[in-house]
Amino acid sequence: MRSISQCHKLLSRISDVWEKRSQVKKKEIDAALLLDDSRPDFRIDLLPFKDHPAFLESSQETKDKILSCGWLIYNWKTIAVELKVVNPVCEDIIYHRYPGVTESAIQEVATDVLVDESYHVQLVTKAGIITSRQRGLQSLKPPEFNLVLGMRKEQDLYEEDWKKMLVKLATSVVSEVFVSDYLKLLSSDKTIQPFNRAVVQAHHRDEDAHSCIFKSLVQCVYSELTQEQKAFFIEVLPKPLYWFADKELEVWKSVLEQIGFPKAEEIYRDCRAGETSNLDSIDYTQLIELVQDLDAKRGEDSLANMGLLSVAS
Ligand SMILES: [Fe+2]
Ligand SMILES: [Fe+2]
Repeated sequence: MRSISQCHKLLSRISDVWEKRSQVKKKEIDAALLLDDSRPDFRIDLLPFKDHPAFLESSQETKDKILSCGWLIYNWKTIAVELKVVNPVCEDIIYHRYPGVTESAIQEVATDVLVDESYHVQLVTKAGIITSRQRGLQSLKPPEFNLVLGMRKEQDLYEEDWKKMLVKLATSVVSEVFVSDYLKLLSSDKTIQPFNRAVVQAHHRDEDAHSCIFKSLVQCVYSELTQEQKAFFIEVLPKPLYWFADKELEVWKSVLEQIGFPKAEEIYRDCRAGETSNLDSIDYTQLIELVQDLDAKRGEDSLANMGLLSVAS
């Protein structure tokens, strides 16, 4: 585990190279050059109902439309992470609401991340507009994601503002650690529409840097918490993994209904009866290491409570 002074140095180095690294400073992706109507917008294996008979027996046209919806949902989830989880934490850091991260170099990193994430919102929103127009899906409305609902439900359990803020911080670091893997899947996929791949690739380049930023920020905050706050944070830190890994079946149900898919309810009911999380396909070693690095003893108990100890030990 890095010492706090090493974390400060790392964050300061990352901020120094931000201008060269960040995608917002690069040339915009040229959609006209990369759009290829004949390619699917999304990967079938990422649909939570890819083996369901109602999906398999639908026409190719419907399947393609559902894949376009998959791409839009993927982008909406990204936007939810940026706007409802990560940027609010950057804002809290800039307003000095967390201890341990008030130093000027760290403040600069928080503003860099805020700009990066705001750019990602623009990037994927524009990409979504292009897809919606191209595939006739302009009327689709994004529903709320369980990732955000999970965080809010957990925050509502507590009266104290500091607990609500630590739940938010935990959700942001977990999202920032896993969003990179989430994006990696599509950023190298040569079967999907090249424009979509280019959008994800650009985003993924920034997120590669972010997970290390957030792990260091959390270490700095944690070092300045009281014992009571530390115990609470370690207890809550693994929880967002479950919210992030959620298959978002309610979002899918809403979207399938919105496009008039006749068996939306049946697909939802059947999927709901099975595994509702993608946890099996997520490598959460990084989260386990982070929890254990912050506090080996408390971390072990917390991971055990969340059923993650077998992987930890
Ligand atoms: Fe992002
Ligand atoms: Fe990020």
